[in-house]
Amino acid sequence: MPRLNEHYLNLKESYLFSEIAHRTAAYAEQNPQKGAQIIRLGIGDVTKPLGKVVLKALHEGVDAMSTAETFKGYGPEQGYEATRNAIAAYYKKNGVEVDPGDIFVSDGAKSDTGNITDLFGPGNVILIPDPVYPVYVDTNIMCGNEVTYLEGNAGNQFLPMPDPGVHADVIYLCSPNNPTGACYNKAQLKEWVDYALSNDAVILFDSAYEAFVSDPELPRSIFAIEGAKRCAIEFCSLSKTAGFTGTRCGYTVVPKELKFRASDGTEMSLNAMWNRRQCTKFNGTSYIVQKGAEVVFSEEGIRECQENIQYYKKNAKVIADTLSRLQIPFFGGINSPYIWFECPDGMDSWTCFDYLLTNIQVVGTPGAGFGENGKNYFRLTAFNTYEKTVEAMERFEKLFASL
Ligand code: MLT
Repeated sequence: MPRLNEHYLNLKESYLFSEIAHRTAAYAEQNPQKGAQIIRLGIGDVTKPLGKVVLKALHEGVDAMSTAETFKGYGPEQGYEATRNAIAAYYKKNGVEVDPGDIFVSDGAKSDTGNITDLFGPGNVILIPDPVYPVYVDTNIMCGNEVTYLEGNAGNQFLPMPDPGVHADVIYLCSPNNPTGACYNKAQLKEWVDYALSNDAVILFDSAYEAFVSDPELPRSIFAIEGAKRCAIEFCSLSKTAGFTGTRCGYTVVPKELKFRASDGTEMSLNAMWNRRQCTKFNGTSYIVQKGAEVVFSEEGIRECQENIQYYKKNAKVIADTLSRLQIPFFGGINSPYIWFECPDGMDSWTCFDYLLTNIQVVGTPGAGFGENGKNYFRLTAFNTYEKTVEAMERFEKLFASL
């Protein structure tokens, strides 16, 4: 009999978004008429189709596969040079220098933020914000790691800051934050970078929602902060930026400056380790997808992506305006596609989930799924269509006006 990874026993039975899908499907099956009225503002899945420039490039990628001269088999595990150069140029456009050799193209930020635990041994002090994207905590539980939570709450605007009296080795940060939409400013991120440098710690910075930042004062990359290349890895995604939730592509930047000492004093480079890990366990993102990804960062690609992002932001405003009228306290929705609101009437978040599903057939994400500090909060996404978002908010307004 195999000995199993019993750390899995410490996980919740199912992953947050699988649980929501399961509960929603069960409700729809038992209530077919109402089930047909369901509006999904739960998982952050986009609804707008891929941009024209991306589609053209994807077609070119497919065509390349049709002749022996242009056919591509296994590609570089790190990503094609053209894609990495396009990503580096995008960083540059946003005022940040990144070496294309530090960029690893992948099938998305979820995989990379999950797989990064491969680089770390046992016994680290690992700081993870609460609330936050559940992948960080779940993947650490899978390894048997203990987690120390960084308390996010209304008092600190869901932007926990370092405690200089507490040592850390590995720090997860997500900005703009999933689920709260809160975004660190430069001074706050500088404090985190200085803290990491003085602790000889590494920051795992999830910037999957950077394209939603419109405030020029807010950093879209941790590498906009001096010193970050010596202490941070950054994860980005084309899922929300370019509508790649189904197409799958992301990238992770592991600077070559990022070096630590093994217990025997040997210097270890996280870039070299991640490269070794990817070459061993990953055969690279498909050529076709990378063709599409490359043009996301062209001028035309950025313009098309921004058009869709502005559309989703308009939805976010519809949600935010409704909550304001109902005087329900909320966060986010400005530099982020997520709106994080306090459950009305003292409800806990799963009660609120059931209440919204059964009364108005609106699906959202219970805050408890993002951590203990989310248990009285609820997340709505702006990624549905404008029409459905408006309808969901009309139902919302009627329901809560009568509370
Ligand atoms: C979310 O809804 O939090 C995201 O869509 C999940 C993900 O990106 O994996």
